[in-house]
Amino acid sequence: MNYRNKKTIEDIDVNGKKVLVRCDFNVPLADGVITDDKRIRESIPTIKYLADHGARVILCSHLGRPKDEESKKKCTLAPVAKRLGELMGREVKFTTDIIGDEAHAMADALKPGEIMVIENVRFYKEETKNDPDFAKALASLADIYVNDAFGTAHRAHASTAGVADYLPAVCGYLIQKEITIMGDALANPKRPFVAILGGAKVSDKIGVITNLIDKVDTLIIGGGMAYTFLAAKGYAVGKSLLDESKIDYCKDMMAKAEAKGVKLLLPVDVVVADSFPDPIDGPIDVTTVDAAAIPADKEGLDIGEKTCALFASAVKDAKTVVWNGPMGVFENPTLAKGTIAMAQALADSSATTIVGGGDSAAACEQLGFADKITHISTGGGASLEFLEGLELPGIACLEDK
Ligand code: 3PG
Repeated sequence: MNYRNKKTIEDIDVNGKKVLVRCDFNVPLADGVITDDKRIRESIPTIKYLADHGARVILCSHLGRPKDEESKKKCTLAPVAKRLGELMGREVKFTTDIIGDEAHAMADALKPGEIMVIENVRFYKEETKNDPDFAKALASLADIYVNDAFGTAHRAHASTAGVADYLPAVCGYLIQKEITIMGDALANPKRPFVAILGGAKVSDKIGVITNLIDKVDTLIIGGGMAYTFLAAKGYAVGKSLLDESKIDYCKDMMAKAEAKGVKLLLPVDVVVADSFPDPIDGPIDVTTVDAAAIPADKEGLDIGEKTCALFASAVKDAKTVVWNGPMGVFENPTLAKGTIAMAQALADSSATTIVGGGDSAAACEQLGFADKITHISTGGGASLEFLEGLELPGIACLEDK
């Protein structure tokens, strides 16, 4: 797939047309209050462009994974519509309907420039099944389909992919921005190109490691997955997380890195404790040990200071940096130092810095470094699949120029 070749909202005439826009409004909520509205803010440029060009804008999204009537109550898009209206400073209508008469009546009554939100598309189980009848029913609300839900572009669902079978389908500014910045970094990076991978399990990151090892100059491995690499080096890792079935894979990747002249950096010291913190953010006694000398009764839970300095110096020399996955149990303040050090290193760097969504993105946002990073993706799973070089169904379904 040529990610630079997709038609965008600027390639079609939207004036007077009903435009169905798939956004990713899957935002975190606590007691019905939105705790992070980044995904809503990031959807505004597309919505504003459409409204300013006379489109009648119908927004749809999922929120959470509602399974029954009780969970549906917590997954309504009503607070999202309200927040969007506040952020845009204009009226955003909301209907609790999705594909029924009420949604149609509201869509048909929209005047050019007006905006409405329909209820959570996952209230229909047909959504995640990519049911063609449901996709067709959604499509019948509008004349044009715009996908701007990068965070959900790795899902082949009715509102992210199926609907494109029934309407002219183009991408919005957010998807365009995400795939251009990340696509260019992968296809034509300014070098040195450094990738930092963290997170719990090697098995979750196999596709990314395999794809990136052919592209980067330096691959940094931290987080829980580093212990399987350390074990592959022959180190004892105590009670640390170990993906035993992936030790041979790690050995292969280390051999491949050496053969290709790719620097593979692993922790040289780690922060250990007797056991995983419980509760996760509760008090914990820690010590720092050499990565080659993790005691049998200890569990590695963060990278140590020497490792932070080693990884930060690789970032300092880089021209392109991609980061996905925390360096330790960052939910716990005592074990967040490695993740904070990486966020700081990216913030201090003059390189093109890209943070794949999820936990590392949340860390950058929470630390207030967001405006010092070139691009923080709105997609967790989606950015991971993009970095793996996989074709995302929500983008593949859109028309080429
Ligand atoms: C996300 O938050 O990663 C996206 O919105 C996709 O949500 P899902 O994993 O429930 O499909």
